[in-house]
Amino acid sequence: MTKRIAVIGAGPSGLAQLRAFQSAKQNGEDIPEIVCFEKQANWGGLWNYTWRTGVDQYGEPVHGSMYRYLWSNGPKEGLEFADYSFEEHFGKQIASYPPRAVLFDYIQGRVEKAGVRDWIKFETVVRRVEFENGKFSVTVKDLPNDTESTEEFDHVICASGHFSTPNVPQFEGFDSFKGRVLHAHDFRDALEFKDQDILIVGTSYSAEDIGSQCWKYGAKSITVSHRTAAMGYDWPDNWAEVPLLTKVVGKTAHFKDGTTKDVDAIILCTGYQHHFPFMAEELRLKTANRLATADLYKGVAWVDNPALFYLGMQDQWFTFNMFDAQAWWVRDAIMGKISMPSKSEMEADVADRIAREDSGEDDYAAIWYQGDYIKELIAETDYPSFDVEGACMAFKEWKGHKKAGIMTFRDNCYKSVMTGTMAPIHHTPWKDALDDSLEVYLQN
Ligand SMILES: Cc1cc2nc3c(=O)[nH]c(=O)nc-3n(C[C@H](O)[C@H](O)[C@H](O)COP(=O)(O)OP(=O)(O)OC[C@H]3O[C@@H](n4cnc5c(N)ncnc54)[C@H](O)[C@@H]3O)c2cc1C
Ligand SMILES: NC(=O)c1ccc[n+]([C@@H]2O[C@H](COP(=O)([O-])OP(=O)(O)OC[C@H]3O[C@@H](n4cnc5c(N)ncnc54)[C@H](OP(=O)(O)O)[C@@H]3O)[C@@H](O)[C@H]2O)c1
Repeated sequence: MTKRIAVIGAGPSGLAQLRAFQSAKQNGEDIPEIVCFEKQANWGGLWNYTWRTGVDQYGEPVHGSMYRYLWSNGPKEGLEFADYSFEEHFGKQIASYPPRAVLFDYIQGRVEKAGVRDWIKFETVVRRVEFENGKFSVTVKDLPNDTESTEEFDHVICASGHFSTPNVPQFEGFDSFKGRVLHAHDFRDALEFKDQDILIVGTSYSAEDIGSQCWKYGAKSITVSHRTAAMGYDWPDNWAEVPLLTKVVGKTAHFKDGTTKDVDAIILCTGYQHHFPFMAEELRLKTANRLATADLYKGVAWVDNPALFYLGMQDQWFTFNMFDAQAWWVRDAIMGKISMPSKSEMEADVADRIAREDSGEDDYAAIWYQGDYIKELIAETDYPSFDVEGACMAFKEWKGHKKAGIMTFRDNCYKSVMTGTMAPIHHTPWKDALDDSLEVYLQN
């Protein structure tokens, strides 16, 4: 009997899973029946831009956290697919920090070539996943038709992402603040903040990038408030780093060191929650945003029931090619080419990954830790092996370029670890490139 597999989400992780199975089929193997449920009307996950915020036309929480003018925050040479290079897709090598639309086009190109769109049920949201009598029952809602149905599956692969449900702290005085308070998840267009004094809370990638966007598109000043430590880059003159916000009075923000700043808007770049309301309690992943997730053997198989898998749930230095490494591994586990050890061995694997991550001293250790994880997974499957070390080195160079110039790092270029070709320098420095369309970016 053919096994039935449910994939939740058609973002980069879910699409990696579809491509993994399709590549086995292309090699003449018998593959299970795959049904992918995607709540949005198109694939691409976060890369499928939406202007919407809050809830969508069906009353579902909007998944998208991406905004206009977003460019990749790391070099594309760190995320390139090993089975589908940028040169294959675009017919030439392109510059290293593509805008969102360019990366969306690249993600889409591989799955269009694979012909897996028919495997996806769009505008179909997964409402409930339960495990009974050796099978998963998956209840979904067809959003346009407003109908619910339940189907049985042998395996569930959850690839619903974890940068969509915002973590929203409360600060004293927010309810009477005389300006806009929003989370990064709802940020869409930096032009909204032109000529304004902006306060950002948080110091990670959203804070750095949304602040940089606001700076690029004409905000009057950017003040970034940190809980743990300042980012410490050599910021432009109208950018300040301050300790944690304590309260807001009227338009005045007060900080832990007693200083104040009058601001027009507050953007909470305070991260996201791993949020799986559709998973039965005993199947629900609860983890911090870290490289070694809780309760996942090899970072993917649910220790308590390894018929269930989660993809892409780690914090991410590597993205697309890590999702591929995971998806090929999960495919082979499901197809019986990889055998699962005992529960105690799986638990020991999780504990070992956590201990190894905790022993790392800095970001460089974290990059190589995740690179080693990718190497480990691809060694066990037929995913094309690639120069993971070279990709780690690209990330190392990237960090150096950020230190050298936080508003100029995207003007650098790197060598593809898939094709060996050096990327061209982009025709316009990032800070002057206000048009982020695919047509303009590809003019180099
Ligand atoms: C603002 C922002 C910028 C980023 N920029 C970069 C970058 O420059 N470079 C980079 O490599 N990475 C970046 N990332 C990281 C990003 O996480 C990955 O690139 C990638 O999108 C993760 O893919 P995913 O498939 O795991 O999750 P997602 O892209 O989140 O896709 C998950 C999919 O699951 C669907 N889904 C969710 N719940 C359900 C449900 N119940 N039923 C059915 N479908 C469901 C969603 O609609 C979505 O399509 C960024 C993230 C954010 C938030
Ligand atoms: N252009 C781009 O490519 C781009 C842009 C934006 C985001 N991203 C991606 O999006 C993902 C998420 O990044 P993120 O920055 O949103 O989340 P994140 O990396 O999880 O960082 C969360 C930040 O919020 C802070 N924080 C959390 N709770 C807080 C509180 N109560 N008070 C004050 N500060 C608090 C944390 O501070 P502590 O350090 O004190 O914990 C941390 O600085 C990343 O993968 C990133 O690469 C990419």
